Amino acid sequence: MGPMADDFERMWADLAPIGRSSTSGGYFRQPFLGAETELRAWFVEQAIARGLVVEADGVGNVVAWWDTASPGAAASGAASSGAGGAVLTGSHLDSVLDGGAYDGPLGVVSALAAVDLLRSRGVVPLRRIGVSVFAEEEGSRFGLACLGSRLATGGLSWSDAQELRDRDGVFLADALASVDLPGGAGWPGGGVLDLSGVGTFVELHVEQGRDLVDRGAAVGVASEIWPHGRYRFDVTGEANHAGTTRMEDRADPMLTFAMTALAANKQARLSGSRATFGRVEVEPNGTNAVPSRVTAWLDARCASDAELADLVGAVTRQGTERAGRDGTALVVTAESVSASVAFDASLATAVAADHAGGDWPVIPTQAGHDAGILSAAGIPTAMLFVRNPTGVSHSPAESATVPDCLVGVSALADTLERLAGR
Ligand code: GLV
Ligand code: MN
Ligand code: MN
Ligand code: MN
Repeated sequence: MGPMADDFERMWADLAPIGRSSTSGGYFRQPFLGAETELRAWFVEQAIARGLVVEADGVGNVVAWWDTASPGAAASGAASSGAGGAVLTGSHLDSVLDGGAYDGPLGVVSALAAVDLLRSRGVVPLRRIGVSVFAEEEGSRFGLACLGSRLATGGLSWSDAQELRDRDGVFLADALASVDLPGGAGWPGGGVLDLSGVGTFVELHVEQGRDLVDRGAAVGVASEIWPHGRYRFDVTGEANHAGTTRMEDRADPMLTFAMTALAANKQARLSGSRATFGRVEVEPNGTNAVPSRVTAWLDARCASDAELADLVGAVTRQGTERAGRDGTALVVTAESVSASVAFDASLATAVAADHAGGDWPVIPTQAGHDAGILSAAGIPTAMLFVRNPTGVSHSPAESATVPDCLVGVSALADTLERLAGR
């Protein structure tokens, strides 16, 4: 299928085995552990092989710059930054637990392939183009999505980040200290990326729903990200014997949780929103004991900030009522809330119109992305989505075809060429 296809497929074949479960076929690429560290090292190798200049920080973020200091741009005498600042493009390499192959890596591989394509076309960028990898986008280890981009944009302070711990109790700082980061030292020695010279960010991503399949389009452009949040529901009751404790004598937090989960589902259906309890911890987690405690995390997403507040308020109220009847106690803590993001509309329109066959559809998304964090930090941002035939994501069934991925690469290259000047 030509050099672009070979380039893309070679990179894809490199990544495919890393962090893949032999039983489910899904990916386990939690940040600062083996597979994700291997992917970051692979990315740095790819950057060096292309003569890109690697900038890495102390929290696992990396940018590979194509600029005057790199052979490709230096030979053509491009200025290192023009009016409007650098153009950054990329995504993330971490995955959810048992995730798909494309969520994250597709944007990184496509960004490298787009740089290769521009070079093969003899394009001379007037602005620096950087390929970025942001750390812990999924929040699969430390619970906070877009950790790397939040730290780099100042959306999260280091003192708040220092409180973060993984499920085994490992603090973020200790995880960073124990991993081999390309920049050398973990935080605070390694610092954090400085994005002040970035004028535009473009993230290409596999689509995570069915919109593009239904519309018959290989590629789409994001208009907005729904507001979303993660809320911890702690329900405490009383541990007791599963056989000898009469049903009416129990204070069973599992019941409170179960009714709360049903209430969340009903509330989301009624309001056209999304509510998911995807993670639950039970103590002591024994078959023959009434639990003493259930901790569950609600992921809620709505079309507007007000609807999100209403949804979580309604679920909390119903859970609290139920706790009163169960003799348990419910405490709800908002662990992170991301407000709605409207992407730069003129940029989205321009990206959507930037191809020969007509306009790409411009669609909202209910998934969170580093692009949302950079946009909220005031950086004009666009997202390109590549069709996902199964419409399934955050699962091994996530998919994309090579021809669609190549359309994505060329759409991204066209966008970068226009944004970075020729
Ligand atoms: C991250 O992918 C999210 O939207 O949860
Ligand atoms: Mn993603
Ligand atoms: Mn994801
Ligand atoms: Mn995401």
